[in-house]
Amino acid sequence: MTELAAPKFVPLVESNEMTSPVAKRVVAETLRPLLHQGIDTLVMGCTHYPLLRPLIQNVMGDDVTLIDSGAETVSEVSMLLDYFGLAADGSQPATNQFYTTGNAKMFNLIAGNWLKLKVAASRVVIDQEPTDVQPAALKTVVIASKNQGKVKELAAMFEADGLTVKSLADFPAVATVPETGKTFEENARLKADGYAKALELPVVADDSGLMVDALDGAPGVFSARYAGSGHNDAANNAKLIANLADIPAEKRTATFHTTLVFAKPNRPAEDLVVDGSVQGRITGVPRGDNGFGYDPYFYLPKLGKTMAELSQSEKNQISHRGNAMRALEAKWRDWYKED
Ligand code: IMP
Repeated sequence: MTELAAPKFVPLVESNEMTSPVAKRVVAETLRPLLHQGIDTLVMGCTHYPLLRPLIQNVMGDDVTLIDSGAETVSEVSMLLDYFGLAADGSQPATNQFYTTGNAKMFNLIAGNWLKLKVAASRVVIDQEPTDVQPAALKTVVIASKNQGKVKELAAMFEADGLTVKSLADFPAVATVPETGKTFEENARLKADGYAKALELPVVADDSGLMVDALDGAPGVFSARYAGSGHNDAANNAKLIANLADIPAEKRTATFHTTLVFAKPNRPAEDLVVDGSVQGRITGVPRGDNGFGYDPYFYLPKLGKTMAELSQSEKNQISHRGNAMRALEAKWRDWYKED
């Protein structure tokens, strides 16, 4: 990795000298130190540079990939316009207004040249960076689930802080992230990081399941598809009970586990990871009509009831998911504020 400042490129661009022989010479001379170094990718770090792209590509050669910071900026701006509902919907004639923090006359000249428009910019003065305002993209949190029950439970803690909460149901076009991990954490990270990258928004993802000690932790990450894909809760429970047929009651200990991962776009190393679990025992005879999945067989010795005999709010107070949510509630605000 190497870096190179190219201050002479800026005046070339601003004086509209983007194709002249002078520009060709300046670009060739400036980039010479980068040649024959085996460079495969060049990030054009200043938004002026991409306007010299054909000359830069010519000097570097066709095998070098140019990354265009201007294009990245345009996509960021278009996301912000969308977010604030300012993007034109095409049914109205386009209007524009220009603002500059620099010299308005100069701006009008340069921007007018580039855009082939008559530009009349107003000058704005920015006294100081606002400090208490979060970037727009951080005002929305996406819950990586289409299960409205789950979304509603998780949404409450973010909505209480004024954030807008969306779920995958709001992004029907986004590609599904496959859950190919070997642990709950791996799967939750895959989903949180994958959707955060695709949506360019912070994402909370979860992965849960049942681990039975006598079955070496099975069904684990395969809890939803223990009896095979396309099977339902009844088939999963039937397989579980069959596999435990020879195991005595005191050895049927089990844990429900949830891992929650909160991810910011393209920063997987900083993911916030929390866990929650609850211990119990797998009974041979199902009890209770509430809950879902393995609940009717998950017996809680301290309460003398199965999970399916608890009301939703009783379950939340002791469940793996409830415990993970309380762990997230205690930590996410500080993590979210970090740059
Ligand atoms: P998910 O990751 O929350 O979708 O959970 C995966 C699978 O684990 C579910 O399809 C259930 O089979 C099982 N599971 C997770 N949480 C629970 C629970 O609270 N009760 C019963 N089964 C659960």
